[in-house]
Amino acid sequence: MNIVVSISGTGTNLKALLDVKKENYLKSDTVVVASNKNAVGLDSTREFNVGASVSKDNEEIIKCLRLKNVNLIVLAGFLPKISKRIINELTIVNIHPSLLPKYGGEGCCGTYIHEKVSANKEKASGATAYLVSEELDDEDILLQKSVDISDRRSEDGIAKEVLRTEHGIPKDAIKKLEEDSYTR
Ligand code: GRF
Repeated sequence: MNIVVSISGTGTNLKALLDVKKENYLKSDTVVVASNKNAVGLDSTREFNVGASVSKDNEEIIKCLRLKNVNLIVLAGFLPKISKRIINELTIVNIHPSLLPKYGGEGCCGTYIHEKVSANKEKASGATAYLVSEELDDEDILLQKSVDISDRRSEDGIAKEVLRTEHGIPKDAIKKLEEDSYTR
């Protein structure tokens, strides 16, 4: 599969995925990184010599994805809503920093999730990769990795621990799609 990784922020998940290039762990390749803004995470594209595309315009994004023969989108901390047209045309995997269905749905992202997890004194948290469909809550879970947070109650500690765990998710979600011979 030809992959586009979409980011809006620091891109540590992107970096973790690009690091795997050296190991030949995946048959698929990240051929381009897309962002809606000049995100810090785009720095990794220079390090790994991967193309970058910065645009807020759906038509422009679709043109770029076609040009690169992209057939899988990995959303790794990408904030804007994805257009229905793109959802219907391509397979999209989103990485979410909670053990869905817990702490999912409208408004559940980043720091807010970790605050809630901490306030609710959860003993475990983690991250989930799921296939995106038109309904925000209609998750088709590909894989989850959980982390024991029973000794870490601050939201910062939880966030760090979850992010560390999350870094293993994109590569294993893609591996799973490869093993299932997932095509669209
Ligand atoms: C991750 O927690 C991701 O799950 C969330 O935003 C964060 C992105 O981190 N949606 P990074 O940009 O990969 O460092």
